[in-house]
Amino acid sequence: MDEPRKFVVPEIVFGVGALELAGRYARNLGAANILLVTDPGVLDAGWPQKVIRALAAEGVDHIVFSDISPNPRAEEVMLGAARYETECCDVIVAVGGGSPMDCAKGIGIVSTNGRHVLEFEGVDRVDLPGPPLICIPTTAGTSADVSQFAIISNYYERKKIAIISKTVVPDVALIDPSTTLTMDADLTACTGMDAFVHAAEALVSSAGSPLTELHAVEAARLIYRHLPAVLEAPDDLELRGKVMLGSLEAGLAFSNASLGAVHAMSHSLGGRFDMAHGESNSILVDHVVSFNWAAAQRRYHRMATAMGLELAGRPPEEARELFVDAVARFKRRVGIRQTLMDCGVDPVDVPFLARNALNDPCMATNPILPTPAQIEKIYEEAF
Ligand SMILES: [Fe+2]
Repeated sequence: MDEPRKFVVPEIVFGVGALELAGRYARNLGAANILLVTDPGVLDAGWPQKVIRALAAEGVDHIVFSDISPNPRAEEVMLGAARYETECCDVIVAVGGGSPMDCAKGIGIVSTNGRHVLEFEGVDRVDLPGPPLICIPTTAGTSADVSQFAIISNYYERKKIAIISKTVVPDVALIDPSTTLTMDADLTACTGMDAFVHAAEALVSSAGSPLTELHAVEAARLIYRHLPAVLEAPDDLELRGKVMLGSLEAGLAFSNASLGAVHAMSHSLGGRFDMAHGESNSILVDHVVSFNWAAAQRRYHRMATAMGLELAGRPPEEARELFVDAVARFKRRVGIRQTLMDCGVDPVDVPFLARNALNDPCMATNPILPTPAQIEKIYEEAF
């Protein structure tokens, strides 16, 4: 019998038009003045402006905070928290991908706890939840809108920190697939692969449960099947909805089961080289799956079946090769062919990267706890 496991989820509205409900939800949460957290790219796409109209229709004021880097930095969180304070805001609405949503989570807990955001690093290190938070994702991948994770960059130490706490689970996720229509092919592929990796890591996590396994397997099926199709037909809202649903299910799985070596190693790369999260995940995923195979065969077999692969009855080594090859081919099919070398990563940094990866909280739930030498070897395979 499995040991008892919690499963935490925000209130979720999923479907075309969900974004239009921002005003009603803000008002229900008692909002008078919102801090709307977004970034310059999302502003260009026009989604925050739509949210602002929905807020205004319900008589809710807003302040926009958009000075956020693609890998949001601790200083940006602190500036946002100061802004929240001086403008007397009472609710936070995040519109965008992982960067604004993670930054918004940081702003929330800094404003209620009165501490620096870097002090919350690790698992369950936050005392007080932030103010009410509504997340409106505009990518299909990060799932920060449903997760108990916030990833913040410590730019000066070239590290990313993971804050994992129920206090950063948003109150409401308004998930509107039409917002993903403005993503270009590269962003669609990278964020979609991030979601696929969430499914693959949550599935084999040592903190998984039947409930997280269920969502992880369905997420893998949806993303493996529909992400290449979306790249062929980027204006197909039906297909965009399937990938967004896959991303949501992957988010429900990883928020509650946590992640593994791909994310730990990817955070390390993102902190040192400012690499895009989905790209570094994609470069590492097949190498990590190959390393983990022996410890998680049953669960990888479930994922393989969801992906339409026939592994039953094959010797374990042959099954491993087929599965790893399918994952590697999938990332190439969605256009991700680069290696760490192509991304300007310096092999000299591998020991530094491995050290940080080993200390990342995501590593704790990898099905095998690797040694520093094993982590270095996985990085080297990805050059
Ligand atoms: Fe991720």
